[in-house]
Amino acid sequence: MLLGSQRVNAQGHLEIGGCDTTALAAEFGTPLYVMDEGQIRDNCRRYKAVFAERYPKNDVSFASKAYLNLAICKVVEQEGLSLDVASAGELYTAVKAGFPMEHVLLHGNNKSQQELEMALEYGVGRVVVDNLAELRQLAFLAKQSGKTQKVFIRVTPGIDPRTHRRIRTGQEDTKFGLSIATGAALEAVTEALGAAPHLEITGLHCHIGSQLLDSHTHEQAIDIMVGFLRKVADTTGWMPEDLDIGGGLGIRYVEAHQPPSYEEFADSVIGALTAALTKYDVPPPTLWQEPGRALMGEAGTTLYTVGVIKTVAIPEAPGTRIYVAIDGGLSDNPRPQLYDAVYECLNAGRAGEPKTQTVAVAGKHCETDILIQAAQIQRIETGDILAVQSTGAYNAVMASNYNRFPRPAGVFVADGAADLVSRRETLEDVLSLDIIPKRLA
Ligand SMILES: Cc1ncc(COP(=O)(O)O)c(C=O)c1O
Repeated sequence: MLLGSQRVNAQGHLEIGGCDTTALAAEFGTPLYVMDEGQIRDNCRRYKAVFAERYPKNDVSFASKAYLNLAICKVVEQEGLSLDVASAGELYTAVKAGFPMEHVLLHGNNKSQQELEMALEYGVGRVVVDNLAELRQLAFLAKQSGKTQKVFIRVTPGIDPRTHRRIRTGQEDTKFGLSIATGAALEAVTEALGAAPHLEITGLHCHIGSQLLDSHTHEQAIDIMVGFLRKVADTTGWMPEDLDIGGGLGIRYVEAHQPPSYEEFADSVIGALTAALTKYDVPPPTLWQEPGRALMGEAGTTLYTVGVIKTVAIPEAPGTRIYVAIDGGLSDNPRPQLYDAVYECLNAGRAGEPKTQTVAVAGKHCETDILIQAAQIQRIETGDILAVQSTGAYNAVMASNYNRFPRPAGVFVADGAADLVSRRETLEDVLSLDIIPKRLA
């Protein structure tokens, strides 16, 4: 499974963006997050283009929770996408990167006053309101500031996507949004309309889940959402101009994952939208989307250095297990522990050789942090560089300092050059927030 610009070079090494990954490991150290900038740009352009070809009224926001730093804000802006942020920290990153604030959406199920005030101060394009308390607080703050804030209301379509329970959000039993079924969503829309001129509601939002490997649930959600647009119009006299269906398209973590291509996904989404607009007699809204994983996931590869290799006896066949320990693990990629995420890997220095053995790739934390339970891999020795694929989304952004590990560096690679986009933390960085109270000194 080679993704994006990954290829095996003349030396038999894994190359990404024209850079030999073993050379990247030598130059920048490991663990190292390598992002294929060409693939990211291509993904952003293609995602926008396939939808624009099928349905011209479009807005694609990159969901920055998947991968965020100052450099990616520049790339996303240059590719003409909007940006979805979900915290003060994500919003502040966008501000510092000079991202155009009118193209930013602020999310969150429990936004703080500081976050709402920041939204007003910086002039974000939309606040996606999650609940009635937030709606009232935002209306009050907008009135105080003398500004009008555009908002979406986040609603729960009440469908259960087939994905891991920790990344499901479309079902009734969720902390996110307001239920269509109970009438809570309609109540919030009515109240938002009454909060003019401080709030200007322009549309409705839903997000049903993540790593979805078919478009079935999106199609269901679109039918429910468009039906709700009709109901809103009939009840309030106001027809929403914007319909945001969130993100969710899955990626290939392992060869067995076969998500729809962008083109197939766009065919399904726009097909479902067009059918629902006819069915409910609704004028075409602007379609907003917030893909995260689908834009960044396959563009990321994490490089590790192999340390201890240990063979242990196990009761089941083949009677032994080989543990290949790497110089990272839970702190740079918590996804296997969080939701049983699966990955493929290869020996970066022997990428052209056949995968002849099965090993368990183990982290070095004080947990049983197995990154890959049964990895097919080439011959591997201590000191080799192990490359784990599809780590571009929900990895660097989820990194922690567990066991006081400094967080890894990140580079963008393109056209044979590598640029640092986040430097490796030092041990001093890790200690930099600690304070010894005087009485303990
Ligand atoms: C509101 C919202 N939009 C977009 C996304 C991005 O989802 P994905 O990375 O699956 O595209 C998420 C992910 O949790 C989300 O909560």
